[in-house]
Amino acid sequence: MASKKICAASALILSGALALSACGGGGDSSGGGGGGEDGTVMGFSQVGAESGWRTANSNSIQEAATAAGIDLKFSDAQQKQENQIKAIRTYIQQKVDAIAFSPVVETGWEPVLQEAKRANIPVILTDRAVDTTDDSLYATFLGSDFVEEGKKAGDWLVQNSATADTTGDGKINVVELQGTTGAAPAIDRAEGFRDSIASQSNIAITASQTGDFTRDGGKQVMESFLNSNRGQIDVVFAQNDDMGLGALQAIEAAGLVPGKDIKVITVDAVKDGMQALADGKIDFIVECNPLLGPQLMDLTEKVLNGEDVPKRVVTEETTFTPEQAKSVLADRQY
Ligand code: AHR
Repeated sequence: MASKKICAASALILSGALALSACGGGGDSSGGGGGGEDGTVMGFSQVGAESGWRTANSNSIQEAATAAGIDLKFSDAQQKQENQIKAIRTYIQQKVDAIAFSPVVETGWEPVLQEAKRANIPVILTDRAVDTTDDSLYATFLGSDFVEEGKKAGDWLVQNSATADTTGDGKINVVELQGTTGAAPAIDRAEGFRDSIASQSNIAITASQTGDFTRDGGKQVMESFLNSNRGQIDVVFAQNDDMGLGALQAIEAAGLVPGKDIKVITVDAVKDGMQALADGKIDFIVECNPLLGPQLMDLTEKVLNGEDVPKRVVTEETTFTPEQAKSVLADRQY
């Protein structure tokens, strides 16, 4: 394991544009706190702070690192791949024991992952996958099955198609708010949703545009969908709660009633989304669990101890109707 003596050197390397946390848990929002009681130093590059899900995920990772006695160096890439690559290179220079990251997009990682491999630093993927044929470039990948999430959203629509034709024309026109272009959840949820509705000739995706997984993005895209297709939209499939919540604002501002005039399906099940579901403004939420911190720390310790770990660890998740949201809302952790 790297010892605290690397900290002095890393402080010099840190003087770039990146907002990396200082050794021993100072600096930005590092959860490292006391500085790695077990001597393990982990560099973590987070996607950004684009959604409620992401905030819950960052908190989970920081809290779990503190609980495990791991010195966490945490950086926020602000949804930019170049920032993540810089952060990973900094962690390599710092000779951290392990690197974990949630890749903002799927492609373009092989050169920097090769560098980590040459430096003998194990890389753990969390939340999102990378697109590579060389699976020796990472030790394990912990996260959701995003294709399955999209499929669950589509299955609900198929099962509820009788009430989803809100415009009453015999067709169900769906508009889709996609996540960040090139990101694994955007690609996979779109695929799963399309697979699920493929055999239904009365259901069609009439418009699809990225809202970048943000509330503002969802609102803006929904406004433009309403401007060009008013009276023809039956359903919104928002690939996360935040975009769905932004879409609700646009729908209400247009004088329409979400849940009645336009059905809304989202993914994540963060508290704000669950509240809107309980209030009947959202119709169905597919859960995507952000509380990956404890499993991430556990996997990291195992990898560093040379224990066998599965190459893929899939997060367990469920779905929620309005009634189910009402019954779990009070105890929702995020
Ligand atoms: O990668 C997970 C996705 O990223 C979540 O669904 C979304 O809210 C986040 O921004």
